[in-house]
Amino acid sequence: MNFPSSLVTSLRDAQRIVALTGAGISAESGLSTFRDAQTGLWSKFKPEQLATAEAFQRDPKFVQDWYALRREQALKAEPNAGHLALAEMEKRAPEFLLVTQNVDGLHARAGSNRMVELHGNIHRFRCFENDCASENFDIENGRCRSCGGNLRPDVVWFGEMLPTDALGKAIDAAEECDVFFSIGTSSVVYPAADLWRRAKERGAIVIEINKDPTPLTSLADYSFLGKSGEILPALIDAIRNKNKVHETSGPE
Ligand code: APR
Repeated sequence: MNFPSSLVTSLRDAQRIVALTGAGISAESGLSTFRDAQTGLWSKFKPEQLATAEAFQRDPKFVQDWYALRREQALKAEPNAGHLALAEMEKRAPEFLLVTQNVDGLHARAGSNRMVELHGNIHRFRCFENDCASENFDIENGRCRSCGGNLRPDVVWFGEMLPTDALGKAIDAAEECDVFFSIGTSSVVYPAADLWRRAKERGAIVIEINKDPTPLTSLADYSFLGKSGEILPALIDAIRNKNKVHETSGPE
């Protein structure tokens, strides 16, 4: 795969990189996205019936079972070449922050450390009724032993606020980065979908990698339509090769 030389140079010389990811980066690991017309979760299930506090209040068991199924699928899945490429990019860049909307835990399993989970993590739980401390959770039965209440997944549901700490870190990093990646996300869910604009307004290069066009495609500096599990490793290779050329032939 060929990349514009200017892009590869910018990536090689970047001091601060932020990568925002969405469900698309886990698609090649066999996990459904949300809005894909046929296979997306929201084409099969109504988000208001499963991913809201009201839905949980109405039928906690129904919602718990759905998340248990997704948890099982996430545990069976393996990080793919896209996840691994971002873990490598983290090692190469002086400053790097991975901002993920994904709750599947695959980035951490791929070796990413400098990361914030904007929408929580499906493998963690919270006490729905009283937010009791987690050491008294009966995970198997979905119950809090402290108050007898129900356990909910520690994810952000529609209508809920994002974790302040994670969002604050994401906004700061976006506003200070040289390069901002938007990878495998439909760029329609806020506030995550606003981060690229903050970066761009402060002079960062914005790069989109996505299977289908999004509202960001025409606004990004570079937009690659295709699979992140193919494009990201190829980009890392291009940077690596550029380094070699740079090392062997001296300054540009
Ligand atoms: N490589 C790159 N992009 C892909 C791939 C792939 N292999 N497969 C699918 N995509 C793209 C799709 O084209 C789509 O634009 O990934 C995008 C996934 O978009 P969504 O399904 O909308 O998922 P996401 O953007 O992560 O959703 C944001 O919405 O439902 C809520 O909280 C949930 O975090 C989620 C948020």
